[in-house]
Amino acid sequence: MVVHKSMRLRYAATGALCTAFIFLPYLAIYHSPEAYSLLSRSAFSQHLNRIFGTSGNQLLFLDDTSNFTQEELGDLQRVLKNAAFKNRTVIITTLNQAWATPNSMVELFLESFRLGEGTRSFLDHLVIVALDQVAYDTCISIHKHCFTLKTEGVDFSGEKFFMTDDYLKMMWRRVDLLRVVLQFGYDFVFSDADIMWFRDPFPLFSMEADFEIACDKYFGDPTALTNEPNGGFVHVRANNRTIDFYKFWYKSREVYPGKHDQDVLNEIKVTSGFMDLGLKMRFLSTEFFGGFCQVSTDFGKVCTMHANCCTGLTRKLQDLRLVIEDWKRYKSMTDLEKQLQRVFWRAPRECLHSFEG
Ligand SMILES: *[C@@H]1O[C@H](CO)[C@@H](O)[C@H](O)[C@H]1NC(C)=O
Ligand SMILES: *[C@@H]1O[C@H](CO)[C@@H](O)[C@H](O)[C@H]1NC(C)=O
Ligand SMILES: *[C@@H]1O[C@H](CO)[C@@H](O)[C@H](O)[C@H]1NC(C)=O
Repeated sequence: MVVHKSMRLRYAATGALCTAFIFLPYLAIYHSPEAYSLLSRSAFSQHLNRIFGTSGNQLLFLDDTSNFTQEELGDLQRVLKNAAFKNRTVIITTLNQAWATPNSMVELFLESFRLGEGTRSFLDHLVIVALDQVAYDTCISIHKHCFTLKTEGVDFSGEKFFMTDDYLKMMWRRVDLLRVVLQFGYDFVFSDADIMWFRDPFPLFSMEADFEIACDKYFGDPTALTNEPNGGFVHVRANNRTIDFYKFWYKSREVYPGKHDQDVLNEIKVTSGFMDLGLKMRFLSTEFFGGFCQVSTDFGKVCTMHANCCTGLTRKLQDLRLVIEDWKRYKSMTDLEKQLQRVFWRAPRECLHSFEG
């Protein structure tokens, strides 16, 4: 009995030592609990692979960060931590040079938060992902949470015309980045910068949904796959299903070359591979999350307004300025006036002439 007990103790001690040997270096390197949760698990699995010669994926919790440098991952983590609401939710947008010049998109975007009802404080929780140096410099001069994302061999600084090669790379890099954000454990709302925020969207999100997406065209049923989604505005909860979905989505770009993320989403949303993920997907009504494709008809409800179905920066800017003015006009009305007078958006106006179909 005594011998047996001491044997057990020795086994236990050996086990503890092994565990310490495997874990300690990572605990020492990554102090913050968040850093530990992601980086160390990846490093940890590589370490295990080295020790035990295990190859393959089964131990790789964070499969692929190979397209991001350690520096980028560290920066991303720091920025997310500073910007997140207490419940680990962040608002994220991307910005390039063309949208960052004075009097351009980013100013209207930030302005909308200040003019919206209860949206001003969201600026404290907004991360701007800058795609080039000018965008980054602009960001740090006007905003406090800026992250710079480089893509090798791609110059994102010009106005990216719809469907050019570089434009596609930019869209896909964004999908890949958002996957990493989820793996860090942050829920997010991603919003293109050509979306004006006028009200708090959070009360409109479903507790049941993993992934909620705005629509170009919405046909009344939040679960119907026939809705036409627009990836410019999504709300995503961080969980295994959404992480797997983002990987699946990103991987699917190889199956549909030359298509951007939104078109690929439209293709994959009806495939069995997608169904197998069990992702709880909801489409957001254009009555609240409207755009130029299908405008919200009710100023009393509208939450966001997207300059979608519009190509050309100048046209977008002209019409979004109308949107901002219309919103200001609505806000300046008394409650009685709001009841008696129906308000209409003047936009899309210039954008009407820009889009086929
Ligand atoms: C990294 O980027 C390259 C070039 O865009 C791409 O071909 C590759 O699949 C990416 N790797 C991962 C793991 O996403
Ligand atoms: C996270 O916090 C924000 C701000 O307090 C709130 O609007 C949002 O609904 C919260 N999200 C969840 C999932 O609780
Ligand atoms: C998510 O995946 C991890 C690793 O595969 C697993 O340990 C965990 O239980 C999963 N969580 C949920 C909620 O399924």
